[in-house]
Amino acid sequence: EKGTYPHYMLKEMDEQPAVIRKIVKAYQNEQGQLSIDPAILEALHDADRLYIIAAGTSYHAGLIGKEYFEKVAGIPVEVHISSEFGYNMPLLSEKPLFMFITQSGETADSRQVLVKITEKGYPTITMTNVKGSTLSREADHTLLLHAGPEIAVASTKAYVAQVAVLMVTASVYAQSQNKTLDFDVVKELGIAANAVQTVVDSKVEMEKVAKEFLATTRNAFFIGRNVDFYVSLEGALKLKEISYIQAEGFAGGELKHGTIALIEEGTPIFAIATQQAVSLNIRGNVKEVVARGANPCIISMEGIDEEGDRFVLPRVHELFSPLVAVVPLQLISYYAALHRECDVDKPRNLAKSVTVE
Ligand code: M6R
Repeated sequence: EKGTYPHYMLKEMDEQPAVIRKIVKAYQNEQGQLSIDPAILEALHDADRLYIIAAGTSYHAGLIGKEYFEKVAGIPVEVHISSEFGYNMPLLSEKPLFMFITQSGETADSRQVLVKITEKGYPTITMTNVKGSTLSREADHTLLLHAGPEIAVASTKAYVAQVAVLMVTASVYAQSQNKTLDFDVVKELGIAANAVQTVVDSKVEMEKVAKEFLATTRNAFFIGRNVDFYVSLEGALKLKEISYIQAEGFAGGELKHGTIALIEEGTPIFAIATQQAVSLNIRGNVKEVVARGANPCIISMEGIDEEGDRFVLPRVHELFSPLVAVVPLQLISYYAALHRECDVDKPRNLAKSVTVE
């Protein structure tokens, strides 16, 4: 039920801090430590490579998952778009483990991969929001997102849940292998939840940004580096699916290899800058497009912010920043769609779960 909310999407964005906290509780054992199904830890232990398979927003979460499993847990990862993987399977490693990320658990593109992989006898995990869904029933193991029902076609809280559960899984596995982490996952997720709360409380500012940058534009670009690049892909998807503005996400350094030709006077560029190591590089990319007339909206993070940044996110651990940085982009898309009088919860040509290939 959306209660007093005008749209499910707005309600679901508001629920995001609570979703992160719920995930922490759901994955905590009696001693307060994070834990996951030992069979999943064993499957990870036995694998020489993790293949993440997903579509749309879930694919974007999978890209963040690659960072987590490689950097935190030391497992090599490939992330694939399910509709491609099934019909053009890459050379697999000797002991692959497959993880399907799917909010609905019903996406046909992902299911056809699961069916093919199961036939080959490889182990499978489904990360889903829907207990008892097709992909959950058909995989060997399930990781639940605990996000509560997501009704709006544009996925918001499920993405945040996917990123959080990916971190929980990668870090619990790392600890099971006696790796020492330089952060406390429960604490950092708590900090991230508070930061997300600050962002969802900044709706007035987000609405202003949407009006200022997106009221009449034909197109918009999103750039970032490292995990911010993956967040920019998700920001662009959100904007196009609900506001019908043509939007693309790019790795900051890649713009000048072609797409910069599209920059005109006033073209909006959203730049995400939460990663210290590449902060100067992304700011350099912003300068390149500003010199061609672009209208930049820099979303940075406390500690690496600079004068003129349009929105500064509360500081969180760099690996956790996707949980927070995606939220202003969701809100900006929401308000852009609203101003353009689009059907926010049910955008044209789209369905909540895509059950055809
Ligand atoms: O249910 P799934 O996570 O498998 O769905 C995958 C995509 O269809 C989905 O994320 C889609 O891209 C959303 N509309 C994005 O907001």
